[in-house]
Amino acid sequence: MPFSERVSRLKSSLIREILAAAQRPEVMSFAGGLPAESMLPKVQWAQMPVALGQYGMSEGEPALREALAAEARALGIACDASQVLVVSGSQQTLDLAAKLYIDKGTEILLEAPTYLAALQIFQLFGADCITVPLQADGPDLAAMRQRLEQHRPAFAYLIPTFQNPSAVRYSEASREAVAALLDEFGVTLIEDEPYRELSFDGGSARPIVSRLKTSSWIYTGTVSKTLLPGLRVGYLIASADLFPHLLRLKQSADLHTNRLGQWQALQWIGTDHYREHLLTLREFYRSRRDAFESALQAHFSDLAEWNSPQGGLFFWLTLRQPLDTRTLLDAALAQDVAFMPGEPFFADPDANHGHLRLNFSHIDPARLDEGVKRLACVVRTAQNLKVV
Ligand SMILES: Cc1ncc(COP(=O)(O)O)c(C=O)c1O
Repeated sequence: MPFSERVSRLKSSLIREILAAAQRPEVMSFAGGLPAESMLPKVQWAQMPVALGQYGMSEGEPALREALAAEARALGIACDASQVLVVSGSQQTLDLAAKLYIDKGTEILLEAPTYLAALQIFQLFGADCITVPLQADGPDLAAMRQRLEQHRPAFAYLIPTFQNPSAVRYSEASREAVAALLDEFGVTLIEDEPYRELSFDGGSARPIVSRLKTSSWIYTGTVSKTLLPGLRVGYLIASADLFPHLLRLKQSADLHTNRLGQWQALQWIGTDHYREHLLTLREFYRSRRDAFESALQAHFSDLAEWNSPQGGLFFWLTLRQPLDTRTLLDAALAQDVAFMPGEPFFADPDANHGHLRLNFSHIDPARLDEGVKRLACVVRTAQNLKVV
């Protein structure tokens, strides 16, 4: 094959295939991580300066970098605009970090489970994934210490606020302990926070990067979950030692993030109408979460356990009787229901059967109960239990 050696590690993304199947209008989809259509804000383009059609700076639009740095400082991250790089969605942060750190066999530290597309890009570059199990309030700290004693990961990749897929939010104590461990072992932190603003209980714990004393760090966020994912605007903020490398990688990847999307993001970030929009969004998703939980209680309580998510977009179910949930997909799609099997969210899928990730933000409330009921029926049938 004339392709690079790394392409042999490129796995097809199961989620793309499921989302393609979920395009059929009759399918009730719990699969994606999409904002609800009705919550995409109406945006205006009329005032956009024509000059933005010209090439721009690799770092991003100066005013947007300033606005993002101000938001980050309000969260407790000591930084200024010179440390902000605007990227093509936070997915690009993961791509740039993979290029910066990973050769074949490079060890990295991840949560188990973790974000599917992060696994995909890190494994493409040949990472050796060392994992730490997640508990209800953060990673298993004893396991994390043990991994750090036995390995030398190039970085730790963590999603501490409403994690995708588990919805876990690290407690204050867990954040402090993780920061102290990373400092002790001198490990760089990549902290990914697309769901921070989608909090249902008003909680807002300081990011872990703001608690580090000596380790290098990259903090990444996005407007995909709060404004429009189609804008493809995200950002990273990095410690000063890492920034120049990330900037050069960005230059070589795509010169700069699209300026039209950056302009639109700037119309919102840090403004009163953005804060109002976020309030509406949280209210809306909280009521969707509640409706989804009622449907789960009605149809899944004998089949699975879950923690009620305090933010984000997902329920993470653990089946009482584990089975490979990938084997449920065809039967579910035949019933016009799409969901995400849990296995692909683990570096070692075959050792981690029995979880389902269910998105609660996108489904039409009128079809929610029917969809959850059908999915429960598929699980029950597979487990060879009597259908109730
Ligand atoms: C944990 C996590 N990181 C990154 C992303 C990518 O977001 P973006 O649209 O900004 O590329 C997502 C999107 O679902 C995500 O869940």
